[in-house]
Amino acid sequence: MTTPATPAKGLDGIIAASTRISDVKGDIGELIYCGYNINELAGKVTYEEVVHLLHHGHLPNHKQLAELKTTLAGFRELPQGVINIIKEFPKNAPPMHAIRTAVSALGCFDTTCDDDSMDAQRRKALRLIAQIPIATAYFHRSRQGKSILPPDPSLGEAANFLYLVDGEKPPAEKESTMDLCYVLHADHGMNASTFSARVTIATLSDMYSAITTAIGTLKGPLHGGANEGVIKMLQEIGSLEHVDAWVADALANKKKIMGIGHRIYKVLDPRAPHLKRMAQVLSAKLGEPKWIQMSERIAELMLTKKNLHANVDFYSATVYYSLGIPTDLFTPIFAIARTSGWTAHVLEQLADNRLIRPQSAYIGPVGLKVTPIEQR
Ligand SMILES: CC(C)(COP(=O)(O)OP(=O)(O)OC[C@H]1O[C@@H](n2cnc3c(N)ncnc32)[C@H](O)[C@@H]1OP(=O)(O)O)[C@@H](O)C(=O)NCCC(=O)NCCS
Repeated sequence: MTTPATPAKGLDGIIAASTRISDVKGDIGELIYCGYNINELAGKVTYEEVVHLLHHGHLPNHKQLAELKTTLAGFRELPQGVINIIKEFPKNAPPMHAIRTAVSALGCFDTTCDDDSMDAQRRKALRLIAQIPIATAYFHRSRQGKSILPPDPSLGEAANFLYLVDGEKPPAEKESTMDLCYVLHADHGMNASTFSARVTIATLSDMYSAITTAIGTLKGPLHGGANEGVIKMLQEIGSLEHVDAWVADALANKKKIMGIGHRIYKVLDPRAPHLKRMAQVLSAKLGEPKWIQMSERIAELMLTKKNLHANVDFYSATVYYSLGIPTDLFTPIFAIARTSGWTAHVLEQLADNRLIRPQSAYIGPVGLKVTPIEQR
């Protein structure tokens, strides 16, 4: 095969795999999980139901859902060795560094790490869905010098995470808001972190390595890290009357506005309106409407000036902020929810695997001769 003369920069437009898990229809702004439009799922199903959907291709019945919840609750406890490692992390380490390292450590403590039977792979997938939130909450508590709490098996995934972070059970509205955020973030086609997870597992590495890879990829500000960037930007702008000048200056200096634009969506990201609605309700309740007002103005300016729409990270930042979640836990929460999608993709890749190995177009010099080192 000859090397293509012009590579697709950023693999733009390249179809890297077939999948039954999710579909991102960028031209019409639709997101589909296993046949269900995200607008159909949002508000009607819980995160745990979405986990089952992504892993099995269909929504669970009562019995299947109860089994899944019991399994996840049973998998939450972290090995003491991993808890010790988490407690040793520098208190000022960014949480994404901490959870990336914790997931890698979980692989060291799981004696089935290299068991490649599909049963073992499925168990490891669910274990990671259950344990990444615990690792995140434990790091957060430990960096504050607070005691870590045992997980509460009576709580669902979203509520248990909030409980372990805050030290108290969340009110129903906080739990349901977080659960919907998890649902909206669970999967998203061949996004960068999912692709990286599939590349890693396609070498027949292991589940923990694949999810460690994915977390490292999600962390970047052009991907999941953008939600932290949004709140930092809003804080830097400070107030509604400064928005127009700030945006004009950013655009003049070719600065990217976090939470705006998308490789695939050419119209509004379908997750954004759900998050915007939640952000509006929460901001009003909090009596701090300026964040949502500033966000709406930025979105309006970016649409008129650059024809770019808000993406999932834009309003999720205000939602998390309004829920009282520390800024540097925004991207970890994305990782917690997306672990359901990453693991589903890893299992799908394993079911019909081929090494993922694209080519590059070499554009360097050719035919050079070695000059002896003393003469260089
Ligand atoms: C998501 C993103 C990485 C997509 O990137 P992409 O498809 O490679 O698009 P590019 O970065 O090449 O941008 C294309 C053009 O739109 C502009 N653009 C894209 N997103 C922009 C943004 N958020 N702010 C300002 N300009 C933006 C670029 O400057 C570029 O303009 P130019 O052609 O005049 O140079 C990009 O929109 C971005 O960086 N957004 C901000 C980070 C973010 O929110 N990421 C989360 C995604 S869910």
